[in-house]
Order: sequence, then C-alpha cells, then structure tokens
Amino acid sequence: MSAATNVRSAYGLERPTYNAKLTEVGRGTPMGELLRRYWHPVGMASDAGATPRPVKILGEELILFRDGQGQAGLVYPRCCHRGTTLYYGKVEERGIRCCYHGWLFDVEGRCLEMPCEPNPTGAQCQRVRQPWYPVEERYGLVFAYLGPPDKKPVLPRYECLEVLQPGEFVEADDSSIGSGGIAIAPCNWLQHFENVVDPYHVPILHGSFSGPQFAAQMNAFPKVKFEYGRQSVKATSIRPGPDGRRFRRVTEAVVPTLRVVANPQVAQYGMVESIGWTLPIDDTHYRIYVAGRVREKGELTKFKSRYNGKAWAELTPEEHQKFPGDTEAQVGQGAITFHSEEHLMSSDQGVSMLRILLQKQIDIVASGGNPIGVAFDEGSAYVKFDAGQYLDETST
Ligand code: FES
Ligand SMILES: [Fe+2]
Repeated sequence: MSAATNVRSAYGLERPTYNAKLTEVGRGTPMGELLRRYWHPVGMASDAGATPRPVKILGEELILFRDGQGQAGLVYPRCCHRGTTLYYGKVEERGIRCCYHGWLFDVEGRCLEMPCEPNPTGAQCQRVRQPWYPVEERYGLVFAYLGPPDKKPVLPRYECLEVLQPGEFVEADDSSIGSGGIAIAPCNWLQHFENVVDPYHVPILHGSFSGPQFAAQMNAFPKVKFEYGRQSVKATSIRPGPDGRRFRRVTEAVVPTLRVVANPQVAQYGMVESIGWTLPIDDTHYRIYVAGRVREKGELTKFKSRYNGKAWAELTPEEHQKFPGDTEAQVGQGAITFHSEEHLMSSDQGVSMLRILLQKQIDIVASGGNPIGVAFDEGSAYVKFDAGQYLDETST
C-alpha cells in the first residue's frame, strides 16, 4: 500500500453506524422478534414476591410478583382501567390489586374484581384483561416468554443442570458472573455474547492487562478451532495440560443468548457446570443470570474476578484504566458498537460465525419458521452442550 492511500486521518472518518438488525431488541425489530421466540430469565425466584417488582427485559417494562398461592405473575405495568402503574399495587391471595380503584388481576391478567362497580364480580370483569406474559420457574430463576402465544416453546431442560452428582445442587445468581464485574452493563448485549466465542482475548486482556486472573493452564496462547454446534458456535481452545496431556477447553455461545463457559479460574475437568443467560434489558443494557451445579451455597460467586487484588467494584478510576477486564473492554466498545468501523480478522472467526448464525435465525422467523432450538413437546426439551474443560491423552 502506498503511503498516500494508507494515510487515514481521523478527519476523513465517516459517520459510523451499527447493525441494528443484530443488536436492537424491541418488539417488532428483527432481533427482538427472534429473541421473543425463546424463554428468558426475568429474575431470581425470590424476586417474585409480595412486593410488586419492576423489571425490564427486551426493552419492555413489566411488573413481577407472586400471589398468595405461590404463583409468579408478570404483567404490563399500566392498569387496563385508567392506566396507573401496578408498581403501587397490593399483592393478595389471588393476584395483584391496583391502588387506584382496586381492580384485582390474577397472574394471567384476568380481572377478578372491580370494587367500585355495583356488582364487583359481575360480567364486566370478563370484558377486560390486563396484558400479561407467561412465566415458569426452574433452576431458581423465573423465566418469561414474551413472544406470540401460539409459538410458545417448552422451557428447555439442560443436561448440565439436570445430571447431578451426589452432593450437588443447582444454585442461581443474578450478579452477572462473567461480565467482568459490573452487575448491569451499559452496553448492548451482543458485545458480551460475542465475547464468549472470542478466546484470543483471554491471553491478552485477562493475561497481560488485567493481570493473571485465571487458572495457570489458561495462560498459554491457545490453538483455536471454531465450529457450529447443535444450536451454537463453539470455540475449542487447545493448550498444553499437566503430565504431557492436552488441555481442551470448549466454550459455546448458544442461540439465543446463552453463555456456556466453564469456570476459567479453576482447573477442574468435565462437563460445563453452569449456564449464563445474557439478558438484554434494552438496546444499551444487559445483565447475566446464571444457574450452576454447586456443592455449597454461594459457590458460584466464590470465583469473582479480581483486579490488582481487589473486587471490580472497589477499583479506583486509575485502577480501571490500568487493569481493564471484560467490563472495560465491552462497555468500552460503546453503547452499541459501530460495526461500520470494525476490521474483523481470522481470529474473529467465532464472532463472524455467530453473527451469521443469528442472522439466519432472524431470516427464519421473518419467513414464518421456527428458529433453531425451540421445541414444542416436553420430550424434546432436553438440551446438551459440548462445553467444558477436558484433559486428553495425546498419542505422542
Ligand atoms: S387505574 Fe387501576 S383500577 Fe383504576
Ligand atoms: Fe473475557
């Protein structure tokens, strides 16, 4: 390249753009409609209680609660009478009661009572319904389905959370394990999701920049193979293991948002022990809910990343700059990264493959089909991953 064509003054930069199709999550957007064909966690089981709890998911503000009979409910916040918010409602035995005129709604939005009417339980109750979404609880989390009712799939069961050894149980966490430290990250969810199949950043960001954060085996520069899994992009990183064996680490970014990544801080081998759901709160915020197999309470959070010997939240601005981690790198890409300014290389193959896989699913949904991984009968709801850490005997 001649010197003249290689001069890239910032003065000549064009107005940058992002790929809205892959990043925006609102109702009616291409990705928003794809995401609405799957179940997503909206909270911990304990978040659904007697106090109405505002939650935001896929750009929609909703109210989560649990009635006196133990049923969790997720409703549109604006009361269908005259629109005040159910945030101020009272949770009762049979549902949630609006503070303004006392309409009572069950967990599926049915109106049970209009106390200001001459006949509070009369036929007029059937003429209205508070908008609602179905929820189901599993693994200590409340999952919601925000899509078209006639396309609702079964809530998947995952082998890695179902096959338990004696003494193991499943624990949930909402502190965004895997984000690098922040609980709610002010950036687009895809920036995090793509990171799952970006193993080359491990020796750079987590090696030389953050200071060694992971098990010693992770320090070597990996040989990486990218391939498509059953409903995922898989990155297999090969490094030298103990006793001349081969350390094989498989991470998966599973459609729609699942990070299936073995704990990089412990040298333990076998099937991946947890799943992280990268939840898009809206276009520019995400958080991660995790469920994993543990042997003691609190085990999931025992391995939070440390920087300069401190927890992420304790770092000074200077330390954030000196010891950046995943949060800094991903939030540092901007609220929604500008794809027009990227230059993807061979080491970004996982990222490219993930975008292709997601775009394909968007196209399938747009043409009326069912995207990858949705199942409609309980029998086919069982999901297996290849992710994990393994020690292989080598022939040499
Ligand atoms: S606004 Fe809710 S009962 Fe009137
Ligand atoms: Fe990372």
